[in-house]
Amino acid sequence: MKISVIGTGYVGLVTGTCFAEVGMDVVCIDIDKNKIDNLNKGILPIYEPGLEDMVLRNVEKGRLSFSCNLAESIKDSDVAFIAVGTPPGEDGSADLKYVLAVAGEIGANMNSYGVVVTKSTVPVGTSAKVKKAVQESLDARGVDFKFDVASNPEFLKEGAAIEDFLKPDRIVIGIESEDAEEIMRKLYKPFLLNGHPIIFMDVPSAEMTKYAANSMLATKISFMNDIANLCEIMGADVNMVRKGIGSDGRIGNKFIYPGIGYGGSCFPKDVKALVKTASENGYEMRILKAVEEVNDAQKSVLFNKVKTHFGENLSGKTFAMWGLSFKPKTDDMREAPSLIIIDHILKAGGKVKAYDPIAMEEAKHSLGDTISFVNDEYEAVEDADALLVVTEWPEFRSPNFEKVASLMKGKVIFDGRNIYEAAEMKAAGFNYYCIGVRSGN
Ligand SMILES: NC(=O)c1ccc[n+]([C@@H]2O[C@H](COP(=O)([O-])OP(=O)(O)OC[C@H]3O[C@@H](n4cnc5c(N)ncnc54)[C@H](O)[C@@H]3O)[C@@H](O)[C@H]2O)c1
Repeated sequence: MKISVIGTGYVGLVTGTCFAEVGMDVVCIDIDKNKIDNLNKGILPIYEPGLEDMVLRNVEKGRLSFSCNLAESIKDSDVAFIAVGTPPGEDGSADLKYVLAVAGEIGANMNSYGVVVTKSTVPVGTSAKVKKAVQESLDARGVDFKFDVASNPEFLKEGAAIEDFLKPDRIVIGIESEDAEEIMRKLYKPFLLNGHPIIFMDVPSAEMTKYAANSMLATKISFMNDIANLCEIMGADVNMVRKGIGSDGRIGNKFIYPGIGYGGSCFPKDVKALVKTASENGYEMRILKAVEEVNDAQKSVLFNKVKTHFGENLSGKTFAMWGLSFKPKTDDMREAPSLIIIDHILKAGGKVKAYDPIAMEEAKHSLGDTISFVNDEYEAVEDADALLVVTEWPEFRSPNFEKVASLMKGKVIFDGRNIYEAAEMKAAGFNYYCIGVRSGN
C-alpha cells in the first residue's frame, strides 16, 4: 500500500516511519525544505528514542522517503495522512489553516480514489471541512475522483512514540464508508496482531475521542496538583496520598503524580480548544476551565518556594536547573514549565545554569543566551545557590549527593517532580522543598 504523510513533525515522522517499518511504501512530506534536506541526509529534526535507527533502516530498504513535493507523491497514494500542526489561535481555538491548506492541495493533485485521513488533532466537524476543501479543489480542476475522508486521531506519547505506535492501546478510526473501513483495517492490520483493538466509529466521535482523552489526563494532573497544594497547607504528604488513592483500581496509579504543571504541544492547546469548541456551541466546560487555571498557577509553584526561601530579590544568586523539556525523553520545549520558572528567576535578578540531556539545542531557540547551558548535571550545580529539578530525566534520579553538596555554594534543592526522599535529603544536609509536602516534614 502506498501512503503519503503530510507534515513531518513528531506525529508525521513517527507515523510514516512505523508504517514503513511494517512494509508499506511511505513518502513523508513537509513544506520545511531544510527539514526535508536534513532528513534526506539522515539528520532527524526531533529526538525520539529508537526513531533514528528506524528511519535510517527504512530509508535504506527503499520503503521510506522524504519530499517537499506533495503533488508528485499524492498522485499514486492509496492513503494520505494529514499530520500538520493545529496550534491554538488567538482565542484558544485550534487553528485549522494548515490542515485545510493541505486538504486543498490533495484535491488539486490526486488522480484516483484515495482515503484522506486526518491524524492531526482537530475539533469535531473538521473532517467535513477537509472533505469540502478536497472537493472544491477537484471541482476547480473539473474532475470528479471519488475519495473518502477518515479521522484517525493519534495517541502516541512523546518519549515513547515508537512503542505507542507499534503497540497501541487502541486505534480509533472515524469512517463514513465501508471502502474506507476496509482500507484502514488493512493498513493497521500489522499493528493488531497482538490483539490491540481497533475501534471504528462515526467521524465526529473519533474527533471528540482525542480531545476527551487529553482533557481527562490533564484533569487528573490538575486535580492531583490541587490536592498537593492542599496537602502542603494541611501538613499531609501528597506522596502518601498518591499511593493511597492509586491503589484503588477505579482511580489507577497513572497520571496522578503532582508536579509543576503539564506542558508540551498537546494538553495545553487541546484543553483550550475543547473549552472554546464548547463555548462556540453554547456550552461551558466548567471543569476544564478550572483544570487550566490550576495548571497555569502550578507552573509558578516552584518559583514561589524559591521566593519564600531567598526573598523577592535574587540578584547575585545562581540557580542550577536540571531538565528543561516539558517531560523526560523528548526535546520538545513547547509550553515547558521550565520557561516560566526561568522567566521568574531572571526577572527577580537571578541567574540560571541549566543542563538537559537532550533539549538544550531546542531550548536555545527560545532562551538564546539569557541563561547558561552546561555539559552535565554536576557542572550545573558548581557554585550554585540552589538546585531546581524541573524534568525527571532518569539520570537525575540517583545522583551522587555528596558530590552535589561539595560543588554547590548553597545547600538547597527545589524538587519540582518529587523524585527524592525528604528524609534522605535532610540527612545529606540539604534544605529540601518538593511539591505537596510541607518543608521540614
Ligand atoms: N506531538 C505529539 O505528541 C502529538 C500527539 C498526538 C497528536 N498530535 C497532534 O498531531 C498534529 C501534529 O503535531 P506535531 O507535534 O507532529 O507537530 P509539529 O509541529 O512537530 O509538525 C508539524 C509539521 O507540519 C509541517 N507543515 C505545516 N504546513 C504544512 C503543509 N502545508 N504541507 C506540508 N507540511 C506542513 C510543518 O512544517 C511541521 O514540520 C497536531 O494536531 C497535534 O496536536 C501531536
